[in-house]
Amino acid sequence: MLRTASMIMIAGLLAATATPSAAESRKKPAKPVPAPLIAQACSGCHGQLGQGLKGTPRLSGYEKDAFARVWSEFRDNQRPAATIMPRIARGYSDTEVAVLANYFSSIRR
Ligand code: HEC
Repeated sequence: MLRTASMIMIAGLLAATATPSAAESRKKPAKPVPAPLIAQACSGCHGQLGQGLKGTPRLSGYEKDAFARVWSEFRDNQRPAATIMPRIARGYSDTEVAVLANYFSSIRR
């Protein structure tokens, strides 16, 4: 129940924070994905609200530009110590990364 309620809240937050300009500035925007769904792919490891779990860093309150920068570092194999994120990072378009960055930065820590 609580979980459903928080997902609805997340959907609300996303709707409020998704910036069309971020999507428009991309050359080849991906088909828009409902943000709460793509964020679900992170929750098993990073926690339901990105609070971080044992062994994974906190994503809630993560500054947007830093998020995008870290993401490209994963994607471009510039973080040699990384284990799983380089593989995960390659699966997301720039538009989706912007949506994720918007979402996680909007969560209060
Ligand atoms: C299988 C577990 C797993 C999943 C799923 C996962 N992560 Fe991660 N994440 C990690 C681990 C472990 C690290 C530490 C770096 C590494 O070892 O790859 C990490 C690191 C990160 C970092 C870097 C934080 C920092 O400051 O160093 C970001 C950003 C991040 N993940 C975002 C995401 C997002 C967004 C998703 C969902 C699309 C996601 N992760 C899905 C396990 C996961």
